[in-house]
Amino acid sequence: MNFHVMTLFPEMIENAMAVSITGRAIKSGCISVNAVNIRDYAQNKHNRVDDYPYGGGAGMVMQAEPVYRCYEDIIEKHGSARVICLSPQGRVFSQEMAQEYAGEENLIFLCGHYEGIDERVLEEIVTDYVSIGDYVLTGGELPALVMMDTIARLVPGVLNNAVSAQTESFAEGLLEYPQYTRPEEWHGKKVPAVLLSGNHKLLAEWYREQSVLRTVKNRPDLLQKAKLTEKECQLAEEFLQKNGNRGL
Ligand code: ADE
Repeated sequence: MNFHVMTLFPEMIENAMAVSITGRAIKSGCISVNAVNIRDYAQNKHNRVDDYPYGGGAGMVMQAEPVYRCYEDIIEKHGSARVICLSPQGRVFSQEMAQEYAGEENLIFLCGHYEGIDERVLEEIVTDYVSIGDYVLTGGELPALVMMDTIARLVPGVLNNAVSAQTESFAEGLLEYPQYTRPEEWHGKKVPAVLLSGNHKLLAEWYREQSVLRTVKNRPDLLQKAKLTEKECQLAEEFLQKNGNRGL
């Protein structure tokens, strides 16, 4: 997976991606990150890439030409690819979308700043508009990083353990079950006995039950899509009856 990022702050992208699991994935060649500074494509003495908005109003708008020249340079060198514009106006990012993007060989992210980007260049180059949630950030870099991190861990070879990407939160439409490690007792709290039993059937049942309970407690909205057995539906309903039917 090759990520290309059009940005005014390439060091923000490079620094964040260079650490932890993504950093290791870059070193091993599973992913690459090419952060390209839009300012390098400005054509004026002061390297300005923004200007006042037509019609007036607060803030500045990123100009079309430097963004377009930056895009052309990327596709000339690496071939064309989907261009994802990070924007609160986009479709809200999800694990499902991450799965779909993980199948691409190249992805180009366009990070806006100021009050926005000239609509004409967006019309020409953007294929997907994506938001990471209903709140407004100062720029598209953090959303691009959130997306790249989520997508990268789905790329084969990035996680040591292929099972973990599958069994984690959202993979089956449910939240993840709680985890424990040594010591067996901490602050008077014991690790649930089933985890020490070595009984794989009981363990699998317990994991699933805990996932259902967490989901019904914290994200009941997810249950509509999750496939629950009759017993699991009962468990969820019992919880809701005991705790009030909030959220469903
Ligand atoms: N740019 C500013 N806010 C954003 C958001 N919530 N998602 C994606 N891009 C953004």
